[in-house]
Amino acid sequence: MTELSPTDAAKDAAARAAVALVQDGMRLGLGTGSTAVFMVHRLAARIRAEGLRLRCAATSRATCELAGRLGIAIEELDEIGWLDLTLDGADEIDPDLNLIKGGGGAHLREKITAAASDRMVVVADPAKVVEVLGAFHLPVEVTPFGVETTRIHIQRLLDAMGMTQRPMLLRQRDGAIFRTDEGNLILDLSLDRIADPAALGRGLNAIPGVVEHGLFLGMCHLALIGSPDGSVIEL
Ligand code: 5RP
Repeated sequence: MTELSPTDAAKDAAARAAVALVQDGMRLGLGTGSTAVFMVHRLAARIRAEGLRLRCAATSRATCELAGRLGIAIEELDEIGWLDLTLDGADEIDPDLNLIKGGGGAHLREKITAAASDRMVVVADPAKVVEVLGAFHLPVEVTPFGVETTRIHIQRLLDAMGMTQRPMLLRQRDGAIFRTDEGNLILDLSLDRIADPAALGRGLNAIPGVVEHGLFLGMCHLALIGSPDGSVIEL
């Protein structure tokens, strides 16, 4: 087995600690991203070793496919109805456990899934812990219809809030415009510092054409921050 990089070892440590919270019979939400990949592998290993009976919903096609390859049966969220626990990654975590998510473009399904869960536990490496949200770009999922007018609305909101920002980028991947699992587009906002995440979230939610933004406020119950040496800190 190849040795993990320090960052991957930290992600795997967080993933191991998160999967230790899983109990037989639970209904689980499985997140998206590179840390979630470690979590899904760890979960598959526990299911194989202990024969856990779980009901699992995935937050993206990518996670659904990975889970399927590893032998984890995935159901639609609506088939399960409500979840006990969602395990997911994050791009930034502040001291109040507010998050920026959506680096992988899955934050719409991730937010719906977390909101349908009794608990959301985040798994991350130490680089994700910040004092103030905003150094990471804020992903905003928008409908393809009217994307340019939606962009104008967002710009006006940021101007009204006195938030300076660099150009709002339409996300690309592999040289093509990125489409979410729902077929929408993503505008990435480079804000540097989000002084009032709640006000920004409310403002974005009020714009027609905005489907969902990557601010997860008051949704995360516990963050498990792994270290390259295998230790884990709880926030
Ligand atoms: C996907 C997400 C991811 O959880 C977030 O981007 C963190 O990813 P990674 O674990 O690869 O750093 O929100 O939409």
